[in-house]
Amino acid sequence: MQHENGGFAGLGLAILCLLISTGNPATADSANGHRLAERWCAECHVIAPGQQRASDTVPTFAEIGGRFDETALATFLASPHHSRMPNLSLSRAEIADLVAYIKGLVR
Ligand code: HEC
Repeated sequence: MQHENGGFAGLGLAILCLLISTGNPATADSANGHRLAERWCAECHVIAPGQQRASDTVPTFAEIGGRFDETALATFLASPHHSRMPNLSLSRAEIADLVAYIKGLVR
């Protein structure tokens, strides 16, 4: 008669489960992006749900956020020449905040 007694439980999984990442992009501040958008963009774009006055030929930020990914938005905002938009001289931090705000509208 033989009996086996070699079961070894894996303890690693329990430890891995404790290592929770928040995935928080600490650099971009969408609240500041909202403030920047109110100051620089709201005369033409609807930048928030419920905004009453803007140009009706200009896409809303919610539409824009649904149409472009973060990289495309940042590239667009960093480039100086647009067809019907003014030249916005935004810093990289301002662009990151605006992109965070715009993408936050569609989540
Ligand atoms: C003077 C009016 C005006 C202001 C101010 C303005 N925009 Fe625009 N924006 C436009 C127009 C018009 C378009 C549509 C572009 C076109 O059809 O050529 C547009 C398009 C865009 C697009 C989409 C680009 C595309 O390819 O469709 C983004 C992103 C954008 N604006 C971001 C911003 C941000 C961010 C601000 C503020 C920092 C801002 N805009 C301020 C008029 C404006």
